[in-house]
Amino acid sequence: MCRFSFVLGVSAFLAAAFLVSRLMQVARFSTRVGCVYAKITASTAIRTAMDDPFVYLNGTLTPLSEAKVPVLDRGFIFGDGIYEVIPVYGRTLFRPSQHLARLFRGLAAVSIVNPHSERQWLELIDEVVRLQPAADQLVYIQVTRGVAPRVHAFPHSEPTPTVFIMSNPLIPIPASTREQGVACVTMEDQRWLRCEIKSISLLGNVLAAQNAAANDANETIQFRDGFLTEGSASNVWVVKDGSLIGAPRDNLILEGIRYGLMEELCAADHIPFKTQRISRAEVFAADEVLLSSASKEVLPVVSIDGHTIANGKPGPIYKKLYAAYQAAKIA
Ligand SMILES: Cc1ncc(COP(=O)(O)O)c(C=O)c1O
Repeated sequence: MCRFSFVLGVSAFLAAAFLVSRLMQVARFSTRVGCVYAKITASTAIRTAMDDPFVYLNGTLTPLSEAKVPVLDRGFIFGDGIYEVIPVYGRTLFRPSQHLARLFRGLAAVSIVNPHSERQWLELIDEVVRLQPAADQLVYIQVTRGVAPRVHAFPHSEPTPTVFIMSNPLIPIPASTREQGVACVTMEDQRWLRCEIKSISLLGNVLAAQNAAANDANETIQFRDGFLTEGSASNVWVVKDGSLIGAPRDNLILEGIRYGLMEELCAADHIPFKTQRISRAEVFAADEVLLSSASKEVLPVVSIDGHTIANGKPGPIYKKLYAAYQAAKIA
């Protein structure tokens, strides 16, 4: 009985210590983020710190379950917004400047006012990251044009953009999946012609991802008029005769942050790197096919539509790039 009370006491103490540390982080938030005001109560912090992660919404840190957006938000009504996903390793953002630069380009491309400087964005993201229990995370940022009467054209008086930041644990791809490689399926690219914009209007990508899920595949590789574009949520690479080849950086693909990274890693490892239009036949005849994204990092594809790629095993260029990627994460 005495031992039971002791264990109970220690558990209560540890839980209290965890909650106090979260509260202190939240309290610090109000003082650190100059022009943005965080409003949060101690009771919500205690109630939600463990199982309902804190997110940032329009100046407020709040439990995810309490974050609400008006139905006239143009993100909800029109998909009128831009998003970004940034990997975090050991609580450190990976390539934050490149990710924020892409967010800023997307906002400018659709004339949504960027509400924060890069420094302010980094502070906001940092606070959300600090409030999560996991060390490795995927930060999700969404900015919409804001709330306005439902008229398609931009509102006459510019609404305040809606800003949302959340962060989820980054679940690593199992080593066994990496060793075996993954299966993909293909589909005609049905998306719009501004795929370079990381728009929250993702119905085409959703249908492509569902096509992969329905066929028990890791990803759908899309083709437009017979030429490779990209995956539902990843860039696709072909290896031929020792070179890494990617689809051109144009309006038909989203230029992943890993797109530039692959180019850098290839240069460092003396792997020739090219971008060119890649036909369907060239994809199927490749020596290796790879996917890249924030969550997949770089991942080998060993079959497409049931057709085996090369010898059906992850190849040497994948292995080099994966090792280089791991080194870049801790550099
Ligand atoms: C359509 C699409 N292409 C490419 C990528 C890869 O981008 P990144 O390397 O920045 O994750 C993504 C990532 O989500 C994507 O959604």
